[in-house]
Amino acid sequence: MVARAQSATLPDRVRHRFPILERLTYVNSCSQGALSDAVRAAYQDYLRDWDEQGSPWEYWVERAEAARSAFAALVGAGPDEVAVTTSLSAGVSALFSGLRFEGERTTIVISDFEFPTVGQIAHAQELRGRRVVHVPEAGDATIPLEHFDAAIDERTALVAVTHVCYRNGSRVDVEGVVRLAHERGALVLLDAYQAAGVIPLDVRALDVDFLAAGTVKYLLGSAGLAFLYCRADLVERIRPTSTGWFADEDIFEMDIHDYSPSASARRFEFGTPPIPNIYAGLAGLEIVDEIGVAAAEEHIRALTSRLLDGLDELGAKVVTPRDPDRRGPLVAVASTDEHALVAALGADGVVTSSRDGNVRLSFHGYNSSDDVDVLLAALARHRELLAQRPVRGA
Ligand SMILES: Cc1ncc(COP(=O)(O)O)c(C=O)c1O
Repeated sequence: MVARAQSATLPDRVRHRFPILERLTYVNSCSQGALSDAVRAAYQDYLRDWDEQGSPWEYWVERAEAARSAFAALVGAGPDEVAVTTSLSAGVSALFSGLRFEGERTTIVISDFEFPTVGQIAHAQELRGRRVVHVPEAGDATIPLEHFDAAIDERTALVAVTHVCYRNGSRVDVEGVVRLAHERGALVLLDAYQAAGVIPLDVRALDVDFLAAGTVKYLLGSAGLAFLYCRADLVERIRPTSTGWFADEDIFEMDIHDYSPSASARRFEFGTPPIPNIYAGLAGLEIVDEIGVAAAEEHIRALTSRLLDGLDELGAKVVTPRDPDRRGPLVAVASTDEHALVAALGADGVVTSSRDGNVRLSFHGYNSSDDVDVLLAALARHRELLAQRPVRGA
């Protein structure tokens, strides 16, 4: 992925590619990225190829390999370190099924910011005799490093941490967690679903052992496509028991007499690749590349600052941490009735979503400062549904 220094021209150079932005104020990329002309065309291309060529499997498998390379480029990995999966759940399940828990190392440490995917897969390992330890958040929607420090020890096999929390927009100090985990001999899995596409990711710089994300949100694809990165030297140490024929060393040998997983991260894959979603995902990744991940991050930072100023004027209670290094593209605002607020905003043409008592407002490179102003005006109209910030001294 090429980082582009074109932030000055965002959102204008991409906005026209997303028809929904002509009709609605779309601030819900944390849930689903907006549909672009390119992704719509990609689905049509899939139908055309299927219709005209019947079963062009060679080309379709080539497309899956193109997705592998695009994901690898996105996170600074090699293609052999990437599994193309149908969901984050699929990649993480395969990984956990093959993780070795040697000697005393039987504990999985997970942050309290994890999405259910990681939380539930981790707890499923209790059926295999593993222990799960949670790292609690502080009262201010952050998880201080000291909390990880207290939870990770010589019994920890793996630490699972999320980059940006889907509930409150808090951005975890990944480098700090990795340092602590590695000092104590534990591996680290990063769930980067709420970051990929709008926060530059480099697995070497972050020094994570595993990273997973998918195309539904800021990667601007659709459901049904995700990936798992596994550091090259770890691949052959992990032998997934949750598996499928596309994980085999020679898929087309059609061997039913043994288990011989691929020497690459393809061993974390399952069955027939999700071809339609791969067409769409590749188109989404191309648009992400055109926008530029670093440019998107810088642009979004300006939009979130504008939003936070406006929210302060409204007296709203912002749940997301204020420190720009501790937040990403998502701002969570406390509501007295988040479902009613999402519905009221929706009726005003402003698309948002909610989790955990908060309305979630999230931006991408295609959002404009006008979007922020329209959103703020709508929030002002529905002020009674915003939880008010406690007044100092009151
Ligand atoms: C942080 C995070 N992880 C995982 C997921 C879900 O992943 P999947 O449905 O692909 O398992 C989501 C959202 O859907 C998410 O926000």
